[in-house]
Amino acid sequence: MHGSRIPPPQKGFPSHSTTLPSTLLSEINVNAPAVYHDFTYLADELVNRTPTGASVAEPDSVIGESGRLYHGYKEGKYFFPNDAAEQDRLDFQHTSITLLLDGKLTWAPMTKAPKYVMDVATGTGIWAIEFANQNPSSQVVGTDLSKIQPENAPANCTFEKEDSEEEWLYSHKFDYVHLRAVFSCFDNPKMVMRHAFQNLNPGGWIEYHDGCPTIQGLNGCLKGEYLLQRWSKLIQEGAKALGRDIDVVKHYKRWLIETGFVDVEEKKLMWPLNPWPRGRNLNMVGRYQQINFSEAVRPVGWKLLRGAGLSPEEVEKLTSEAKREIPDQRIRAFISFYVVYGRKPFEGERKGPVFGEEDREPKLDDNDDAVDDPFTAKVEEYWNRDQI
Ligand SMILES: C[S@@+](CC[C@H](N)C(=O)[O-])C[C@H]1O[C@@H](n2cnc3c(N)ncnc32)[C@H](O)[C@@H]1O
Repeated sequence: MHGSRIPPPQKGFPSHSTTLPSTLLSEINVNAPAVYHDFTYLADELVNRTPTGASVAEPDSVIGESGRLYHGYKEGKYFFPNDAAEQDRLDFQHTSITLLLDGKLTWAPMTKAPKYVMDVATGTGIWAIEFANQNPSSQVVGTDLSKIQPENAPANCTFEKEDSEEEWLYSHKFDYVHLRAVFSCFDNPKMVMRHAFQNLNPGGWIEYHDGCPTIQGLNGCLKGEYLLQRWSKLIQEGAKALGRDIDVVKHYKRWLIETGFVDVEEKKLMWPLNPWPRGRNLNMVGRYQQINFSEAVRPVGWKLLRGAGLSPEEVEKLTSEAKREIPDQRIRAFISFYVVYGRKPFEGERKGPVFGEEDREPKLDDNDDAVDDPFTAKVEEYWNRDQI
């Protein structure tokens, strides 16, 4: 399914590689402003794409009210589709996120490749496959409710159909647990974090790469009626009505500390909705994000907007109108993207609150609206310079 390509070497661990889906290319905005990104090999790919193969059909899928296909195992638990279009979207999202993370698949300060790796809710398995390819000494397991991962994955990468909220039953513990784009997945996300803690070896790392569903605008540029903001508010309300808080990303740091992890770090990044940023690779990040987001508005929104009380006709109207706003580069819209990681302490090393002592509330900055990280400041700087 996913072709791979040898990228130029990058600094740090592990080296970067990325894979590009072959479809939806016509939607890339070739008229975007000049690109000054570092990923020239990606620009090359944009011109000379090779097909990445077919999506993987999940036989027990069920058709939903939206007309899209959804997972049949534990039917109804996850709100987004699992069909070919969704698989393509996830692969575009992967490319956008990998670029956003400076070409790295992990940011946790690991000094050597972890032996046993778990990719929770792996989706198409694209991250797991790339990690396995880059780290032949690692054994990677990707889990998901849908078996939509390719069969020709590298030998050191396997996939299991399972619900990560249930007990993890493996014959060994893990050295690294990765969770990406899982903000909408779990009834009890902290329980999944505990499963990770219990199934990590001492010294092993957990790492989240996840977005906050609230749409924001740089320099307060989102004034007036922006339908995407309405969409984002309503999907959060709908999720609550269905019993799930999807604005969980900002809690990960505190929850990791409460669960017993140490060396916990949180990095907050700006993930632009289209290629409005002028500088470096953020422009390229935005190109892939524009496609990802355009392909997400309806399928991601459907069940949640229905949960918020909208009729199918209202959902169709809002999603098609909101989708039209995405390419508008006058609006410097973005969502916050978080990288949060922590380490399971060695015996006797424990510094933070002990596992299970949830009552302790460390004083952490939970303010999700502030755009104050250096990365965002840098983008502001590029933008303002372009205006002069
Ligand atoms: C938005 S996708 C992200 C996929 C992948 N992590 C990535 O970043 O490309 C979320 C995935 O989580 C899976 N999922 C949702 N709930 C799950 C659960 N309880 N256990 C395992 N997988 C789950 C879905 O089937 C879907 O493939």
